[in-house]
Amino acid sequence: MRATLKPLFSLASIFASPRRSSIFSRADSSNLVLLALSNFRRRWIFTTGPLPPPEWIEPFSDISDVASGNRNPTPSPWAVRVLGLLYESQDMELNLDDFCGKFLIKLSPNFVSFILRSSELREKPNVAMRFFRWAGKQKLYSHKIECYASLIELLSTSGDFDSVKLVFDELKQKRLLMTVFAANLLIKSFGNVGMVEELLWVWRKMKENSIEPGLYTYNFLMNGLVNSMFIESAEQVFEVMQNGQIRPDVVTYNTLIKGYCRTGKVLKAMETLGEMEATNVEPDKITYLTLIQACYAEGDFSSSLRLYHEMEEKSMEIPNHAYSLVIGGLCTEGKCMEGYAVFEKMISRGCKTNVAIYTNLIDAHAKSGSIEEASRLFGRMRNEGLDPDEVTYGVMINGLCKSGRVEEAMEYFETCERSGLVINATIFSTLIDGLGKAGRVEEAERIFQRMMEIGCSPDSYCYNALIDAFTKCGKMDEALALFKRMEDEGCDQTVYTYTILMNGLFREHKNEEALNLWDSMIDKGITPNAACIRALSTGLCLSGKVGRACRLLDELAPMGIMPDSAFEDMLNVLCRAGRIKEACKLADGIVDRGREIPGRVRTVLINAMRKAGHADLAVKLMHSRIGISYERMGSIKKRVKFRLLLEI
Ligand SMILES: *[C@@H]1O[C@H](CO)[C@@H](O)[C@H](O)[C@H]1NC(C)=O
Repeated sequence: MRATLKPLFSLASIFASPRRSSIFSRADSSNLVLLALSNFRRRWIFTTGPLPPPEWIEPFSDISDVASGNRNPTPSPWAVRVLGLLYESQDMELNLDDFCGKFLIKLSPNFVSFILRSSELREKPNVAMRFFRWAGKQKLYSHKIECYASLIELLSTSGDFDSVKLVFDELKQKRLLMTVFAANLLIKSFGNVGMVEELLWVWRKMKENSIEPGLYTYNFLMNGLVNSMFIESAEQVFEVMQNGQIRPDVVTYNTLIKGYCRTGKVLKAMETLGEMEATNVEPDKITYLTLIQACYAEGDFSSSLRLYHEMEEKSMEIPNHAYSLVIGGLCTEGKCMEGYAVFEKMISRGCKTNVAIYTNLIDAHAKSGSIEEASRLFGRMRNEGLDPDEVTYGVMINGLCKSGRVEEAMEYFETCERSGLVINATIFSTLIDGLGKAGRVEEAERIFQRMMEIGCSPDSYCYNALIDAFTKCGKMDEALALFKRMEDEGCDQTVYTYTILMNGLFREHKNEEALNLWDSMIDKGITPNAACIRALSTGLCLSGKVGRACRLLDELAPMGIMPDSAFEDMLNVLCRAGRIKEACKLADGIVDRGREIPGRVRTVLINAMRKAGHADLAVKLMHSRIGISYERMGSIKKRVKFRLLLEI
């Protein structure tokens, strides 16, 4: 009794003293209302002496607000005060006790549930949990189902699933009566985090208590099922709705479409859009955005474009992200003009562009050879106050290098470096490659060096680019040293690395070394690709080892590699080198081994001769029976050999 009396009296003395009233003139309006509320009680205390029982505080000060269905009733001023006490502190419970004792109040379950739903507590699951526990210990108090539901909602949005489960278990044991409000809140919460078992428990409780689900309930349920990928169950709920009193609305449809898209059933999602229109439910921008996104993700850019056009026809507001996806799709398909047109429309409708859209457009223009347009877009982007990021610089540098404008690429590189952006290995390899192809090997080397200095470790693309630059200008020793370094640094030597080096070695007539490289590549289990096989086979042919080249094809077959065009490459390279005799020998070898249909070998050889400027021989071969017919040698039939061509 004493403990509760003391603060009350000191409060009364503040009221009595005019000198202290300045404290209250500074107090906020909620305090004043609060004082007014307890006015009556104070008078009662002073006149009658003994303390009245604590009063239950309700969340809304004006009950008529709630009764008349006012959607935004004025919250009780007590709410602000109580919320002010809820923060991460050891004394939180003590402060609450003091406060309630001081004002002789108790917090009603409705009030507790209201506090738990306030935005101030959203990000504080621990505080909410402690408040809930504290409130539960008030004298003659027990939580209503709404308190549990409100706490579960808060905990589920903050991602604390263990606590959600804990509170839910407590709720189940309490055997409280389900209410419409609690059911909706619980279904929404469990739905959002995809807790299906819990969701279905609530659904059962609703049935048991004859609570008819409303449209929101259905939509929350659908959302829950979809979020936990229970698409078939969602479809069933949807069917129930279609045949029942409460018809699916646009949210229901959007949820179902989202479900189909998430499970890769984009076709069904598209059909659902058709159904919507058939049942006069107008699709909204979310419907379209979901579908555009799904089509984009599937690489079906024409469908996302079609959906975008539909939105336009319906004069719908098109979300920025939809523009991004449509422009991105067009750019990926290399349709930079169309992408640009959509971009212009977007701007004319007052939508904000962004760096990613510009980057897409710049990339598409650069890749389709309009590097001028790409740099114009780059300038325009900066004029709009958008700062290019490393990806934008990357596509510009790549575009410039690929169009042979290395000088400008270097300028972009330097600007990028100066603006403090992180330059990754891809940009470096592009630049090294560009410099190498332009014959500026020393600069390429410097860039490689620079890269190491800033602590970016070169990947195999960087090494390959520099190795390529070295071999192209005959610096084989440097190239091989770099190859060795790759191994030391633990950077994977790829099939490209070997191909570049083999080409270089053959060019320098270092055939044995090239062959050794090939063998070590096979030993390492690296599978040669077409370009690599071409490097070796043509290298061997040119160094006069036609037989070895031919055997090579035999060796590859058991490895499961069918070098289709290898013989074509070899025939071409031999003809071009004027080594017709060897070409014919090779053609015979191929046919004898049954590697190819003789007719095809013949056609390839005819074309190779013509391309290499030996039209006379090509004509001669065409009019001969070589390759396609047989000649009788006594009793044995033998195919007419290609090598006869030079003898007849
Ligand atoms: C470098 O960045 C670009 C653009 O973000 C990216 O496509 C590329 O994969 C990155 N390269 C590396 C090696 O991380």
